[in-house]
Amino acid sequence: MIVESLRGRDLLTLQDLTSEEIMGLIKLSAELKRDRRLFSGRLSGRNIAMIFEKPSTRTRVSLDVAVSELGGKPIYLRFDELQLGRGETIADTARVLSRYVDLITARVRRHADLAELAEWADKPVVNALSDLDHPLQTLADLLTIWERFGKIRGIKIAWIGDGNNVCNSTLIGATKLGAHIAIACPRGYEPDRRYLEWAQENAKVSGSMIEVTEDPERAARGADVLMTDVFVSMGMEAEREKRLRDFLPRYQVTGRLMELAKPSAIFMHPLPAKRGEEVSAEVIDGDRSAVWDQAENRLHTAKAVLLSILG
Ligand code: CP
Ligand code: NVA
Repeated sequence: MIVESLRGRDLLTLQDLTSEEIMGLIKLSAELKRDRRLFSGRLSGRNIAMIFEKPSTRTRVSLDVAVSELGGKPIYLRFDELQLGRGETIADTARVLSRYVDLITARVRRHADLAELAEWADKPVVNALSDLDHPLQTLADLLTIWERFGKIRGIKIAWIGDGNNVCNSTLIGATKLGAHIAIACPRGYEPDRRYLEWAQENAKVSGSMIEVTEDPERAARGADVLMTDVFVSMGMEAEREKRLRDFLPRYQVTGRLMELAKPSAIFMHPLPAKRGEEVSAEVIDGDRSAVWDQAENRLHTAKAVLLSILG
C-alpha cells in the first residue's frame, strides 16, 4: 500500500514521479480516508520541520494533523522567525535541520530556494508550495477527481484563468495520468514553458491532449472539471489592479461557463478563493462545487506522502 519506491526521496514536483507512483499515492490516500486511524503511530519518534515563508491555512493544518495522527511531531517554523530571515544561508539551515529532523516541508517564494534546500539537506524535502509548483495540492485534486468519476484517464480538465503554480502542477498531474487539459488564460499568463514541455513529453506516453487557448468557452466546452485559482497569487499583490483588468470579466468561472461543460461537470479550486473575481459565488457555493472535498483530501494525501517517503 505504501509507495515503497518513494522512500527517502524529495517531492519538489510530480514530474519526478512515475504515473504508477502518483496513482499509488492516490490509492493509499483513499485507504487513509476510509480509516482515519490507519497507520496511526507509524511515524512515532519522527520529527517533521515545516518551514513557511508565506501564509497557509490548508497546507499548514493538514500537514500538522497528518503528522500528529501518524504519531510524529510537527514543528512549525515561520521563515521570519528562523535565522534564515536574518540572512543565514539556505545551505547552512538545511544541514543543521537535517541533524534534528527526519523530513522538511517548505513553502517558499522562489522554487530555486527549495531546490537549494533539497540539495543541501540530508533528509527528504517536500514542496509545500512554491512560485512554480504545488504538488501536494494536485495530489488532493487528483484524488477528488478519482472519487467523483471513478477514473482519471480520459477526464477533461478545463483550467480557466492564471497559468500559475497550481496550473503548472495540474498540467503535470493530468498528463502523467492520461487526463486531457485545456488551459484558457490571457496572453502573457500562460503556464511555465518548462512545465508545458514536460507535459508534452508526458502526453506522448499517456495519451493526454493538451490545449492552451485565450478562449475560456472553448476550454470549458465538454469538460468534466472546471478548475481555477486566484488571479493574484501570494507575493503578486503589487500587480493586483493590472491583473484584475486583464482577467475580468472574461475569465471568471460563472454559471454560464459551467453550462458549456458536461452536465456531470464539477467545479474545483485549491482555495483560498475570491468570490466575484475568479469564480462567482453561485458556482463555488453551488451543488457542483467539489472544493470542500478537495480541501479535506489535502489531509489524506499528505499522510500518504509522509508515510511513503518516511517508510
Ligand atoms: N490550497 C492551499 O495550499 O491552501 P493554503 O494556502 O491555505 O495552504
Ligand atoms: N496560486 C495561489 C495558490 C494558493 C494555495 C498562490 O500561490 O497564492
